[in-house]
Amino acid sequence: MAAERARPLEHPLPQAASRPLGHWFREHPFVWVGAVLGLVLLAGLFFAFMQADAAEVARGKQLYTEKKCSVCHSIAGQGGRAGPALDGVGKKWTLDKMVAFLRSPSSVNPKSAMPPARGTPEEIRSIAAYVMSLR
Ligand code: HEC
Repeated sequence: MAAERARPLEHPLPQAASRPLGHWFREHPFVWVGAVLGLVLLAGLFFAFMQADAAEVARGKQLYTEKKCSVCHSIAGQGGRAGPALDGVGKKWTLDKMVAFLRSPSSVNPKSAMPPARGTPEEIRSIAAYVMSLR
């Protein structure tokens, strides 16, 4: 028994591990099913994520109008001139910085002439998501 154990292994790797990936797709149809299901699941997750994002941006756009940001700001030439035009502003900021700025402009720019945006944290976040979508 002891001599048996001492003999070196002829196949150090189990055979399955040394098979090329193509083997599994050729010989085992269920591998396709698994791969396709996995991709569908990933695509679904991605789509759900994009939808949630789009919904937040749409809500932010509505709040932008409700909170009268356009009294001071223009987008695509529409709106006031007391503040800078917001076209392309999403390229200059990060979402977190934008949230902080909207909540308290003077905390980011001590000389800011902009009044703090009023609203729940969710509302401010949606407005920030909308502003960040302007690229
Ligand atoms: C009373 C005028 C006024 C209102 C109302 C106002 N802002 Fe501003 N905003 C400004 C001014 C002035 C600036 C210029 C920078 C500063 O003062 O901080 C500015 C700056 C900004 C910036 C940064 C622009 C850049 O080029 O980086 C963003 C983004 C912004 N405002 C978004 C908003 C949003 C969203 C609202 C509505 C919730 C809003 N503002 C309401 C006056 C206003």
